Amino acid sequence: MFSQNLFQDQVVLVTGGRSGIGYAIAEQFLRHGARVFIASRKAEPLAEAAEKLAALGPCSGIPCDIREPEQVKALAAAIKAEAGRLDILVNNAGGQFPSPAEYISDKGWLAVINNNLNGTWFMTRTMAEVFFLPQKSGSVVNVIANVYRGFPGMAHTGAARAGVDNLTKSLAVEWSRKGIRINSVAPGFIQSSGLDQYPPHLLQGLADHIPMQRLGTVEEVAGPVLFLASPMASYITGETLYVDGANRLWGSPFPL
Ligand SMILES: NC(=O)c1ccc[n+]([C@@H]2O[C@H](COP(=O)([O-])OP(=O)(O)OC[C@H]3O[C@@H](n4cnc5c(N)ncnc54)[C@H](OP(=O)(O)O)[C@@H]3O)[C@@H](O)[C@H]2O)c1
Repeated sequence: MFSQNLFQDQVVLVTGGRSGIGYAIAEQFLRHGARVFIASRKAEPLAEAAEKLAALGPCSGIPCDIREPEQVKALAAAIKAEAGRLDILVNNAGGQFPSPAEYISDKGWLAVINNNLNGTWFMTRTMAEVFFLPQKSGSVVNVIANVYRGFPGMAHTGAARAGVDNLTKSLAVEWSRKGIRINSVAPGFIQSSGLDQYPPHLLQGLADHIPMQRLGTVEEVAGPVLFLASPMASYITGETLYVDGANRLWGSPFPL
């Protein structure tokens, strides 16, 4: 895709890298010369994914729940011990479930906000403290969602992802002079494992609601993530790039 050694000697952490979009991102970084860490909660599938990815280059899986600050600190310590530095953080881990707003329980609301907003913050703050601020360099890419028109049908994740979108802008300004860039990628509907948990009737005819008349692929999200993390985007920070086949501008599969 890009020059093969684009990320040579770069150390990359991809949260949620054991599956779907995160796996494709980890794969592409490895194909372009990086040393990659993947992190998620379930140790067994994480180890399997890391082993498979290691065929492409140096890759380790370290179990971590992004919602737990102590686990995030332990992850940073493990990366420091193994690689000595971190150059790129991809905050991809997350999850949500469809529900009309009035049926979201307090527990469900807190779970999604904790995962998709707080987890991203814990990870970003810790990796900045341990690596990026002392190194005076670093690049963060957040994988959010299509929150361009709100997120009717998943109000909790809309609120959480819009929070990350705003955090991207704040940190871009605060950390520009410290050599750190931070950007986001906002995927629309992507043919990925994340869609497995949605009831099939919600996904029926989904492509008809997207101007490009198809879902995106995991590779089509990975490419823009690599671009934003790379020197090709060295003057881009605080930006959210939509990868959605124009779905932010027209169409929604969720009935009102
Ligand atoms: N697919 C889409 O259409 C789409 C659209 C917009 C946004 N997104 C977002 O893009 C990201 C990747 O999506 P995907 O489709 O690849 O879904 P996925 O396969 O379900 O990937 C989510 C990953 O995040 C990890 N994860 C979830 N909660 C975690 C936590 N608390 N701590 C650490 N890891 C955690 C999961 O592993 P464990 O369960 O082992 O922790 C899993 O590997 C997600 O944030 C998703 O919400 C997806």
